[in-house]
This record gives sequence, C-alpha cells and structure tokens, in this order.
Amino acid sequence: MNSIIKVLLIVAVRIDPWSSESIKEYGKLFEFFGIKPFKDVLPQLNRIAKPYRLMRRGIIFGHRDFDKAVEALMKGKKVAILTGLMPSGKMHFGHKMLIDQLVYYQKELHADVIVAIADVEAYAVRKKSRSELIKTAIYEYVANYIALGLDPEKTKIYFQSNYDVNYYRLIQLFSRKVTMAELRAIYGEDLGPGKIVSVLTQAADILHPYLPEFGGYDVVVVPVGADQDPHLRLARDIADRFSNELPLKRPASTYHRFMSGLTGTGKMSSSTPDSFIALTDPPDVAVRKLMNAFTGGRPTAAEQRRLGGEPEKCPVYELNAYHLIEDDSELAELYRRCKSGEILCGKCKKETAARLKEFLINHQEKLESAKEIVKDVVEPPPF
Ligand code: TRP
Ligand code: SF4
Repeated sequence: MNSIIKVLLIVAVRIDPWSSESIKEYGKLFEFFGIKPFKDVLPQLNRIAKPYRLMRRGIIFGHRDFDKAVEALMKGKKVAILTGLMPSGKMHFGHKMLIDQLVYYQKELHADVIVAIADVEAYAVRKKSRSELIKTAIYEYVANYIALGLDPEKTKIYFQSNYDVNYYRLIQLFSRKVTMAELRAIYGEDLGPGKIVSVLTQAADILHPYLPEFGGYDVVVVPVGADQDPHLRLARDIADRFSNELPLKRPASTYHRFMSGLTGTGKMSSSTPDSFIALTDPPDVAVRKLMNAFTGGRPTAAEQRRLGGEPEKCPVYELNAYHLIEDDSELAELYRRCKSGEILCGKCKKETAARLKEFLINHQEKLESAKEIVKDVVEPPPF
C-alpha cells in the first residue's frame, strides 16, 4: 500500500483508550494491528474446555497469540490471566464482561488470575480523590468481582499504588526505552506526566508476571476491550526491547466488543448515567432503565410485524446475548422471534426484565456477603 495512504489510515483509526467513543471499524483493527479472528482458535480451545459464551457468540472477536496460551495450558505450563480496571464510578454490565471471562479462565481452564486495580491511572485521568477511589475500588469493584464468582483465595488483586518493589523497578527501567514520539503516536498529543506514568505502570501490570519474583509465568493473557489495544502494543514492544536484560515476553491478548449504551449511542459508560445498568442498581431502577432503552424496533408495531426488528442494533438484545441468556438455542430463538417480527419490543423487554431482575436479586445477595470479606482480599494503600 502507498505509505502516505497507510499513514492517513493509521491516523484515522487511532484508538484512544481514554475516550468513550465506541469503535465501529473493528475490521480495521484486524488489518492494521495484526489482531487475528478469535473464531480461528475455537477448535483448539474446544479440546480443553467448552468455549465461553462470549467466545461462542463472537463478542470476543479477536486475539493475539491466544493460541500460544491454549497450547501452554494443554502442556500444563504456567498461564496467568491478567487484567486491570479503573475504580471510578459504578461497576456496570460493561465491566461485568471482563470479570466473567476471568471467572471462566479460573474455573474452567484453571489458569491463575491477577487483577490490577488501576488507581494510579484513575487518579491521573479521572481526577477523583484518593479516598473516594480506594473506597470505590474495594466496596464497588472488588466486592463485585467476588460476587461474580472470582475465588478470593485464588485471585491476586493489587492496587497499582501499593504493590511490590520489583514491580516499581520495572516502571523505572521501562522509562528509558520508551520515546515521547512513540507515546504520542499511540496516545495522541494530549499526553502529560500523569498519563505517561499510567501507561508505564500499566506496562508493568502486563509484564510483571513473567519475572520469577512474581511466578515466572510462561504466558500472560490480557483480555481487554478493543480500545485498550494501544497499551498491549506498547507492552509487546517493551518486552522486545528488554529481551537481553529481563525475562519478559510478549503478552497474549483477547479483544471483546463493547456493550452499547442503553441510550443507543456510544458504549455503556459510567460517564453517561442513562447508558448503563449498575450491578448495584435496585432491581426496579434497573428495570425502569431497561424499559426506557433504545431498541432495534421499528417506528410502528405494524411495520415491525411486517419487517421484523433489528437485533444487531439493539442494546436489549445485547444484554441478553452478553449476560442474561446462557443457552445458545434460547438466544437463537430470541433472535429468530425478533427478526421475523413475531415478538415486539414491549414484550421482549418484559421478558428481559424478568431475567434481569432475577440476576440482580441473586447477585446483590452475594454482594452483601462479599462486602464482609473484602477487606481480607486486597490491601488498600495508606493514602
Ligand atoms: N487501562 C485500563 C482501563 O482503562 C486499566 C488497566 C490497568 C489494565 N492495567 C491494566 C487493563 C492491565 C489491562 C491490563 O480500564
Ligand atoms: Fe430488541 Fe427485542 Fe425489540 Fe428485537 S424485539 S429489537 S431484540 S427489544
């Protein structure tokens, strides 16, 4: 390809990990950044476990080197699944997807799970007070992780600002082999010291499990939303640059689609209150949000009976596909009823509301017991 055109395209598809725009052009990600279709690894994964619902449904759509992780698991090598979450705002169904994946890896594949609480990043980019961040991290995030099924005994959860000295050494060493030009090319021009520190800290999150001090893992897999790929590319480059000095390797990664916001524009995001359902929303509040949600329905009932709905564009369908319907044939049946115009949105929302309510009641019960043990699971920073 003509190199000028290529540069223009790369600028056009630059991914900003701090914006809440949803990425429409997933296909471009595949092409330009070497992300492979996830469906290609399903047969291999099938040999060790049933692929997770988000994998079967193409919601986890891409990967880098995930085949290596599956191979390592087959051979009984050490695999860590690592992710990080910014403790800001409420934990909602968009965040839940990630924790669900961790639970799958822990329970079905017996991989070790490590979770970074990205309080350094949240402090830098979300401008919240420390005490608020720490409280949110523990009672809103970690408590929900446990309620969603992460085993507190088997999961390593740490605050970026309160970890091991060998982890901080990585951040310091990394600073030598990263240039401003490179960071600008990945993250754009709006890049101050706060973001730079966050970015290097995140690289340490991703790479530290390779050090013998942290377990000396053979493969680290990082499941992320598609917008987090810049971090992964940087971590891969850093691993390469330290190949003569440190036992770091390139991380593997998987990419999932975002959940759409209930308002029908953009992704589900804490910064748009009507766009999300929080895991702690009282069931009647959650149901009200659902009932007001944008759908893939037609302007009139007659039209919808004639043309059918558009589940591909429908946040209510997504909620079912991502979270509320586990059985594939039950989901296929909903798709068929919607597409054929057999079911209208009002009825569909009511059925979904029943599932949502059941989930939330159940979950919030577990959350109450999780809150009682959460203090023993993670050590908060002193300030
Ligand atoms: N940047 C991530 C976010 O915006 C959080 C994060 C911190 C992370 N460290 C990580 C994600 C390591 C994946 C791996 O939520
Ligand atoms: Fe969405 Fe259900 Fe309406 Fe179909 S019938 S468009 S899935 S709300």
